[in-house]
Amino acid sequence: MDVLTVKGKSGSSQIVLDASLDRLEEYVPDGRTFIVTDANVERLYGDRLPSDWPRIRIGLGESAKTPETVIDAIRQLIALEADRSVFIVGVGGGIVCDVTGFIASTFMRGVRFGFVSSTLLSQVDASVGGKNGVNVDGYKNIFGTFNQPKFVLCDTNMLATLPIEELRCGLAEILKHILIADVDMLPYLEENASRALAADQDVLRTLVAHSVRVKANVVNQDEREAGERRKLNFGHTFGHAIEKLGGLRHGEAVAIGTLFALRLSEHRNLIQSADVARIETLLKALGLPTTTNHPADEVLRTMRSDKKRSGADIHFVLLERLGKARVERMPLDELEEVARDIFME
Ligand SMILES: NC(=O)c1ccc[n+]([C@@H]2O[C@H](COP(=O)([O-])OP(=O)(O)OC[C@H]3O[C@@H](n4cnc5c(N)ncnc54)[C@H](O)[C@@H]3O)[C@@H](O)[C@H]2O)c1
Ligand SMILES: [Zn+2]
Repeated sequence: MDVLTVKGKSGSSQIVLDASLDRLEEYVPDGRTFIVTDANVERLYGDRLPSDWPRIRIGLGESAKTPETVIDAIRQLIALEADRSVFIVGVGGGIVCDVTGFIASTFMRGVRFGFVSSTLLSQVDASVGGKNGVNVDGYKNIFGTFNQPKFVLCDTNMLATLPIEELRCGLAEILKHILIADVDMLPYLEENASRALAADQDVLRTLVAHSVRVKANVVNQDEREAGERRKLNFGHTFGHAIEKLGGLRHGEAVAIGTLFALRLSEHRNLIQSADVARIETLLKALGLPTTTNHPADEVLRTMRSDKKRSGADIHFVLLERLGKARVERMPLDELEEVARDIFME
């Protein structure tokens, strides 16, 4: 069994890399267990979940990741006479995992929980690290907790049913992990891009195992994002602004943000233009976007309003070289100036 441990203040999390959904019961302690899932996952995998565990179904997409969904689930738990000894399993992607973690962290001041992570993005990113947040008024993850699930089961067989766009989004985050800390995997991803997109099990298992390791290492050094964990925001400052303007999935926006962060790193003479070109080629091979139609001013305005809460400087993640990230404080004015240059090219 290939298991990684993430140690947090609230306890440790076991990330099981070669797990099978069919063995879920082995990981859950005795007692009453509840499932939180969404309609897609239930349709595809409901038959394989223990039928005597009550299910709470939440809505689809980012708009379901709200306090209202949490309260609704809590009402269902009350109606089902759940007490503080229950165990809650989230079976789904990042939305289900984030909501489940929040419910379990707050119901009766906290009950035990675990995840079966069913998207590539949630296996390598969302379900690892103990952040559980919901959105309020369009502010992503503004209401949340740090709390480690007891286990995260990664069953790559479940990724075979994932729409290719969702696979791509997971691959954008995998590329992020490679670029900040695991450059040895870069040639592997380059050679196996099309097999990954075809949900080849060997390739996905290898990529997930490496990628989870990067995230777990970072979180073990800095659970609460005081320093090292900031590196995981590589590609995300710019990416979030583009995502907010609409029309793209998170991973797609991150792909564009990744290229922007690489260009900024090149601008600061940290990496070579050949490095930027290499990653641009890979993003294209993965079917991810590399440019945005939104005008520069619009993206920058969004980025500025996003950052208002954290003052004039932002922590921007650059690459010293492929495989090594560095966080630099950067005045927003400088960032905007460079961004304009890059957009004008
Ligand atoms: N907590 C964290 O540290 C963290 C980190 C990164 C991302 N996130 C969050 O994760 C969320 C995105 O997660 P996501 O990309 O997994 O989105 P998601 O949960 O919406 O899943 C994407 C789609 O795939 C469907 N799906 C799930 N598993 C499937 C399967 N095996 N086969 C077919 N379809 C399946 C879902 O129903 C959904 O329609 C965002 O809200 C983001 O903020 C959290
Ligand atoms: Zn992300």
